Amino acid sequence: MTSLLVLNGPNLNMLGIRQPDVYGRTTLPEIEAMCREHANAREVALEIIQSNHEGALIDQIHAAHGAYDGIILNAGAYTHTSIAIMDAVASANVPTIELHLSNIHAREAFRHTSYLSKVAVGQICGFGAHGYVLAIDALIAHINEAKAP
Ligand code: DQA
Repeated sequence: MTSLLVLNGPNLNMLGIRQPDVYGRTTLPEIEAMCREHANAREVALEIIQSNHEGALIDQIHAAHGAYDGIILNAGAYTHTSIAIMDAVASANVPTIELHLSNIHAREAFRHTSYLSKVAVGQICGFGAHGYVLAIDALIAHINEAKAP
């Protein structure tokens, strides 16, 4: 069975309270429930983890090697700053989709730079909580394509 890891970074535990005009009113537990329901429907196994700590996110990315077929990563602000998380994704060799609820390209200039884009399969941004469902489907399609003879 295909298994996916959804990894959420700093401040995403505050969804629902945090700048709802930018990130919407859906809470992280609600997003997690949406992801689990969609993963069940698509018959893939799903693990969901959130951490506010850069090193903990790096540990989870390393541990994904050999344990998951793909990662959906919303690294929050670390997207724009963390060469270490970029290196972790490059090291783990697990296909990774970069995800953002907001359209980072339509926001402040400092959000236009993404270190993760250099190592991710692709980026999904601007679709709010629904982006997680889109990312699950995109990652399954990518994994199946890679497996095809
Ligand atoms: C975010 C976008 C980042 O710029 C921001 O720092 C976040 C959330 C998003 O999901 O839109 O924390 O990754």
